[in-house]
Amino acid sequence: EPGDDLTTDLIAAREAGDGLSEAELVGTLLLMLVAGHETTLNLITNAVRALLAHPDQLRLVLDGALPWSAVVEETLRYDSPVGQFPLRYASEDIEVGEVVIRRGEALLASYAAAGRDAGHYPDADRFDLTRQPARHLSLGHGPHFCLGSGLARLEAETALRHLFGRFPELALAEGERPEPIGSFVSNSVRTLRVRTRK
Ligand code: HEM
Repeated sequence: EPGDDLTTDLIAAREAGDGLSEAELVGTLLLMLVAGHETTLNLITNAVRALLAHPDQLRLVLDGALPWSAVVEETLRYDSPVGQFPLRYASEDIEVGEVVIRRGEALLASYAAAGRDAGHYPDADRFDLTRQPARHLSLGHGPHFCLGSGLARLEAETALRHLFGRFPELALAEGERPEPIGSFVSNSVRTLRVRTRK
């Protein structure tokens, strides 16, 4: 069903012989689905979980003292939806503090750890919506900075506003101890059981 969308444009580019192979077309669409779905799902889940564990912070947003965008940015820092993104390779020797990373060595940049860097954020393990500004690496950095960052922020803000607007008494289910996803890349919980009212 062709329409005004990226999939249609990519297929058209392929059919026009625009240099996109079948494998590249399928790979790009897969990337868009994975990069665009699971990441945002994690962000929304991690934000709900953090807000329910910090009712004083939730109150600040429900009372209108802070915007939902503050929740999105602080969640990205505090509980990065992509924990780490394998792998990068040093294109030259790089000195980091007392360590030299040799050209060709593999590197794992942990966005999740960066968000909790005590040298960078005061009281880094605290979920604090009033941080100004809550800068983080959770959407990447440099030329490969997340292509969907604007969409992801908009989706998460909209979802959170509507969820808590509709269910202001939302709370974690009794005894809920959510299990981590168990992935090296994706950082969230498998399920998050909640009650919609007291
Ligand atoms: C909260 C949600 C999201 C998070 C945490 C996230 C995270 C990231 C990160 C960390 C990177 C950089 C990867 C690298 O350094 O190589 C990235 C790249 C990318 N993201 Fe996202 N992303 C999110 C949502 C989305 C959405 C909604 C889309 C598309 C609809 C998307 C599409 C992409 C694409 C295509 C790239 C590759 C960009 C490039 O290599 O030039 N992402 N994302």
